[in-house]
Order: sequence, then structure tokens, then C-alpha cells
Amino acid sequence: MSETPRTPEPEPSWHGLDPNDRDPLRDDDPFPSLAWFREHAPVNETPAELWRLFRYADVARVLREIPCGVRRTDGSEPGNAMGGAGETAGQFMLQTDPPTHTRLRRLVSKAFTPRATEHWRPRARELANRMIDAALDAGEADVIADLALPLPSQLICEMLGVPVEDRDRFTEWTRVGVKILRGSFLSDEERAVILESIEPLAGYFEALIEERRAERRDDLLSVMIAAEEEGDRLSPEELLVQSIGLLVAGFETTIGLIGMGARTLIEHPAELARLRAEPGLVGSAVEECLRYEGPIGMTTRVLHADAEFAGRVIPKDTTVWLSLWGANRDPAKFPDSDRFDIARTPNDHLAFGGGTHLCLGTHLARMEAQEALGALATRTSLLELASDAREWSDSLFRVPARVPIRLRAV
Ligand code: HEM
Repeated sequence: MSETPRTPEPEPSWHGLDPNDRDPLRDDDPFPSLAWFREHAPVNETPAELWRLFRYADVARVLREIPCGVRRTDGSEPGNAMGGAGETAGQFMLQTDPPTHTRLRRLVSKAFTPRATEHWRPRARELANRMIDAALDAGEADVIADLALPLPSQLICEMLGVPVEDRDRFTEWTRVGVKILRGSFLSDEERAVILESIEPLAGYFEALIEERRAERRDDLLSVMIAAEEEGDRLSPEELLVQSIGLLVAGFETTIGLIGMGARTLIEHPAELARLRAEPGLVGSAVEECLRYEGPIGMTTRVLHADAEFAGRVIPKDTTVWLSLWGANRDPAKFPDSDRFDIARTPNDHLAFGGGTHLCLGTHLARMEAQEALGALATRTSLLELASDAREWSDSLFRVPARVPIRLRAV
């Protein structure tokens, strides 16, 4: 058999984008450098044991088509020779491969159907409007503190049945606990701080689960408990870990979407005017916010077989860094890709990932952002930034620390 000619291997390089020196999450405009990679080094072997992909076709192929997982073929977690990010974290569905993943996801997804989520839309609308009423009365607000944070945190507390008086500390534990998703990339010190916050959260959830076991209600936890009791079940520990995982996966990401979405709309006044004139565009406007500058810039996969990209072979068991932002701005997929167009169709972006681990909270995140951004646009005649400075929170995701605005009612 004759060998296929291969493209010569360039020296491994970070090409100036070494995540240890520069955090793209807090880079005000990471997109020009991602465009450079798409054009000059779309299949980038770095000096670490890591490859990076930047083009839509390559990223989508890894997520949706080729054999890969979140663990190595021997089941160990990448970047952690000790074989795991800690017992508990290792069991959240996002850190497992099939068949474990298939089971966990099937059981939990019963609580996250589009129908179950739509049931909460009127409540999300009421909360968003109430928050915007207060902002309109004041004539100024911070989109993060006054809408993007309280809306998802209050809604998820209601969905889980967390009593009102416990919500502030519940939100604070979640804010710290979310960092556990960094998994094996955490230092021992960081892990200790996070586990300190996860512990009371876990204790709280255990008590809540006990209460729901004794008396079912119309809430998410009761649905997950019911799933546990029909044939194939979630063990009590699995139920606890999935509940915490859902909470942390959905919390700051949604804050980021609403916060960045509001700022992007304000920065594009013609698109904001178009949304006011045609409120029915709110669905596609939210998709465009996700594509244009979504909360998650990258994810990783471990290849489960050798795979070739643009003439270069990445070996089995290599960790591959997938640039979701690079893919979502790829002009080969999205015409005029740097333009923010709230009516863009089709818009098959990868802001929610894809394939096996496609975000389980897509319906919920979309619904909340549609209600928040739709009301903010249509209920205001004036909506402007009170400061042009971009300030980032210390989140794992792209979340502004503040988005100060001035606003006036229609
Ligand atoms: C704008 C908001 C959100 C964004 C941008 C987002 C993004 C993502 C992405 C990119 C992944 C895949 C990660 C990977 O493949 O490595 C993911 C997975 C996940 N997300 Fe979201 N997410 C959002 C909101 C939510 C919400 C509200 C929930 C639930 C309350 C949620 C629950 C999950 C879960 C459970 C997974 C893991 C699914 C699996 O492993 O099968 N997310 N999300």
C-alpha cells in the first residue's frame, strides 16, 4: 500500500496565543487573532501535548462525527495522571463518555424537555418585566446585577424548589462551585477552595432531595427523583452530582449570554431598532448573540482514533482544543461572519457545542435570553451604555463584570 503524502510538519508553536500568558476570555477582542489562526495555522500543534483547531468544518467534525470523548481510551482523564478530577466531579455527565454518559443524560434529560422548559416561560417573562420596571424607574441600571444574574438564579431556584430565604447563599455557593468544571486543570489549592463551597451546596441539596423524596412537588428535583425510581435509576450520589452539575453549568453561562447579548445589541443600534420594529426576530437575535460572542470560547476532546485534518494526522489519545469562537466566526460557514445580523439564517453555530455533549440546557438558556433581551429592547425607547469600558468577571466563561446602562421607557 502506498503512503499518502503528508503536509510537512511545522515546529510546534503557540503562535503568540499561549493560554498560560494570555487569557482569551478576558481579551476585549480575541477575534482578529482567531481569524489569523483560521487562515495560517488552522491545525495547530502546540508545544504542550495539545493540538488546536479553529475552522468550523474541523471543530464540527470532531464534535459531531469522529470517534472521540472527554476521557482517554483507557478511561483516564487527560491532564491528570492520577486518573480523575476527584470522585464527585468525575461523575457529572460532562466528564463521562458513553455508556455511562448515555445513561446519565437519558435520566436527567427527562427534566429538561422543551415542554418542561416552556412551562416556565410566563414566569421568566414576569420576572424579566419586573426587573426592567425597576430599572426604568431608576433610569439607569447594571444589566448584570439587575437582570442577567437575578433572572436565571431566581428561576433555577424556583425550578429546583429552593426556598426564597436560602437563595442568596445558594447563589454564592454556586458562583464559587462553578469552577469545579475546570476539572483536572485545577491546582490543589484552587480545588480545596472550591470544595469548601461545594460541600455546603451538596449538604443543602441532600436535604432538599430528602424532602422531595418524602413529598413530591411540581419541580425539577422531583422529576429527577421519579426518573431514579423507574427501572434504570440514578443512584443517590449520581442524582446529587447531576443536580449540582446542572446548576453550575447553567448559571454563569446564562448570565454571560444575557449580559453580552444586551451589550452587543446596544453596540449595534440599527439591529436594536430592527428588533424593536420586529419583536418576532427575538429568537434569531438570541441565536446571533450566541454565534457572535457566546459565553464559551472553547472546549476540548480526546481523539479515540488517529484523525487527519488538512493533511496532518493527530494521533489517538491526543487532547484537541476546539475553538468555538473561531468556528462561529468562520467566513467559510457564515457569510460576512464578523457582521452582527439578528435575522441571520441559517445560523448553525456551535455556541452550545454539538454531538454527544450538546448542551442540555439549550431550551432554558434560549428561553431566558429571549425573555430578557426581548423585553429590554421593546420596552425602551432609549437604551445606551453608560460606560464603554469592558470589564470581565473572574468567571470560567465570558461574563462581563458590569454593563452599566441608561434607559427610558417607550
Ligand atoms: C447561554 C447559556 C449556555 C451555554 C452557552 C452553554 C454551553 C454549553 C456547551 C458548549 C456545552 C458542551 C461542552 C462540551 O461539549 O465540552 C454544554 C454542556 C452542558 N450544558 Fe450548557 N450552556 C448554557 C446553559 C446551560 C443551562 C441553562 C443548563 C442547565 C440548567 C446547561 C446544562 C448543560 C449540561 C448538563 C451540559 C452537559 C451535557 C452533556 O455532557 O451531555 N447549560 N453547555
